[in-house]
Parts: sequence; structure tokens; C-alpha cells
Amino acid sequence: MPLTRRALLRGPRLEPTLSALATMIAARGHEEALAAGAAPVPANADAIRISGNENPLGPGPRALEAVIAALEQSGRYPFNSHPGGSDLTAAIAERFDADPEQIVVGAGSSEILRNAVRVFAGGGRHVLTADPSYGSPVTESTKLGYTCLQVPVDSELRLDLDAMASRARGAGFVYLCNPNNPTATIHLPAAIENFIAAIRRAAPEALILVDEAYHDYVTDPGHRSMIPLALSEPNVVVARTFSKAYGMAGLRLGFGIGHRDAIETLRRYKLSANANVLAIAAGVASLRDPGHIERERERNREARTFTRAFFDKAGYRSTESQTNFLFVELRRPAKGFRDACGKRNVVVGRDFPPMEKTHCRISIGTMEEMRRACDVFAEVLDIAATDAAGGVQ
Ligand SMILES: Cc1ncc(COP(=O)(O)O)c(C=O)c1O
Repeated sequence: MPLTRRALLRGPRLEPTLSALATMIAARGHEEALAAGAAPVPANADAIRISGNENPLGPGPRALEAVIAALEQSGRYPFNSHPGGSDLTAAIAERFDADPEQIVVGAGSSEILRNAVRVFAGGGRHVLTADPSYGSPVTESTKLGYTCLQVPVDSELRLDLDAMASRARGAGFVYLCNPNNPTATIHLPAAIENFIAAIRRAAPEALILVDEAYHDYVTDPGHRSMIPLALSEPNVVVARTFSKAYGMAGLRLGFGIGHRDAIETLRRYKLSANANVLAIAAGVASLRDPGHIERERERNREARTFTRAFFDKAGYRSTESQTNFLFVELRRPAKGFRDACGKRNVVVGRDFPPMEKTHCRISIGTMEEMRRACDVFAEVLDIAATDAAGGVQ
């Protein structure tokens, strides 16, 4: 029997590569590299890379199967493939009870954030964000010479929504990261809705972007997405990514969803065919497999609880994380801790000014990775490993 391309792609020869493919797609280190403008991850494939808030397992099995099937279509443009770009938009729309015109797809949600800053701020309208928060709005405004107001988080490391609202007059773009990266905290719906109303009064023309990159990792039962509000309120857009719970950081897929006027504006600035056929196929398959995300949330919760308990027991506080990372108060510079862990093959988060002298961000890997990482943390923090981990295993 001749070996067709289809047989080659689907056959047993590919089996051993599936798990390697998952790891490649998770593309660890991307988030960190983006933020730092460099590639800080060592080439050591054995390192425990818990620095980039990625899903350590990569895409789910159905998404991987879809990627393999889609490889055959790599010669097609995304508007001429099956599934194609419009299938992805339709799948997102169906999932969130929206019209396709209310969705703009990006090569990661970074593209949505970047274009939103470019389009809605500038010309005397400032960018408003928290400090520390996800860095992209600050980076984009700096590149373009836009004014960016960064409002410090409060003493519990939560976004200070009142203080942010008080700086909103004249803003063009308001960024709300919920849950917040790197502090891992959330605000519940009533607080966000009040914040949005306050911004609308102070800066009616401003685009409010609620970044829900870590939504799928939230376990607080009071949490709710702002997508329903964004669909009806002008000038509110929610950004989502497939890079986190969906495990597709290396495939680069995200989207903005909201009122059709704001989305239409954002669509004018996107590159046509910005999502590739593999990402599209994986995205469509993932959206049809919500059970996988529920299992991933539970997997992360278990490893997160274990790791947080380790630090608690060792006397280091962290916020109650609603994400796939912890922001730990180590009472020492992150750099020294990071370098010492790095020497022991555990790669933890970069500096997060203005808290880099006291806090370190640690992403959640698999349970096995976190057990090994906690042994290293204990050694580096000079805690007897058995004492520190004993009560929490
Ligand atoms: C809060 C937040 N938003 C957006 C992104 C960008 O994600 P991507 O461009 O991979 O979709 C990240 C990445 O880490 C993030 O933490």
C-alpha cells in the first residue's frame, strides 16, 4: 500500500512525536520573552520552566489531533482551509452567544492589546493601567510616545479600582487585567461593573479592555466573565487567549469580543489571515471540548494549592491565586532567588517592578514539576526540605 501523506500524518510514526509536539506548542518562555524583550529561557530542555504562565501539558488531545489533521492543509490560506478563519469566528461566537461581527481574532491576545492601545490612545488621550499589571499596554505606549498612567495596586495587591477611576479623565484606553498578572488577584463582577460605569462617566470615549487571559483558571465561585456586558456596552472589549488553559502559547491565537462598533474599529487594524491553519484547527477543536478545560482547571488548582501551602508553611505569603501562577513575597530580590533556582534547573519568573525587590512570580507546572521545584525552593531559601514540604504533601 503506498504511503500517502494522509497515512503518514495520521499513522503510528507520529505517535511518539505527539507529546513532543504538545510541549513545542506550549512554547514555554514566550510570555516572559515578550515582556522582557529578550529570550531569557536557557536551552536546557530538562529545566522546569515555571516562568511564563504556560500550560505545562500543552493543548488537549482533541486539539492536537486537529493540528495533525490540519498539517495537510498548510499549503492553503486560512480563508481557504477546513476549518478556516470563519469557522473559528463562528465557533467563538457560538460559544459566547455573540454574532461573528462581535469578534476580532489575533495572533495571540497580544495583537488585540497592541492594536487597541494604538487605535484608542494617543493624540492627547492617555493609557490607564495598574502597577504592576500585564506589561503590554505600558510597552506599547512607550514605543509610541503615548502617556501611560500606572496606578499602584493596593496593600492586598489588588487593582485599586477607585484610584484608577480617579485618573480616567482624558483617557483613550483603560486596561483592566482580571485576574491580574502578576499579582494573581481578582475582582468580582459588581466591582468591575461599578468600575466600568465610573470610567464611562469620566471618559465616555475611552475603550475599556478587560483582559481575561486567566479566566479559565479562576476557582472563586463568585467570578464571572465580562463578555455578556461587553457584547452590549459600547467601548468595552474582553480579550481572551488560547495561550493559557488551552495550552496553545506557541500556536498564537487569541481574540477580542465586544460591542460591534469597537470590534469593527479593531478589525480595521488587524493583519488579514493573522491566525494560521494549525491554530485555527486547534482553536475550533478546543472550543468543542469544554470538559478538557474543566480538567485542566482542576489539575492546576491541585498543583497551585500544593505550591502555595509549601510557601505558607515555610513562612512566605502569597496572594490567593486565581491563576496558574503565584506571586510570592520572598522578602528578598527576585533576581538572587531566580539565579539560584536557575542553577538548579528551575526557571522562575522575571522581575516585576516595582515589586522585584520583595516578590517573585512562580508559574504552576505539573504536580511532579512542583514537587521537584519545591525541593529546590526549600534548598535555595535554606529551609529543611523535609520540614517544609512534609506537612503539605
Ligand atoms: C494578562 C495577559 N494578557 C495577555 C497575554 C498575552 O497572551 P498571548 O499573546 O500569548 O495570547 C498574557 C501573556 O502572558 C497575559 O498574561
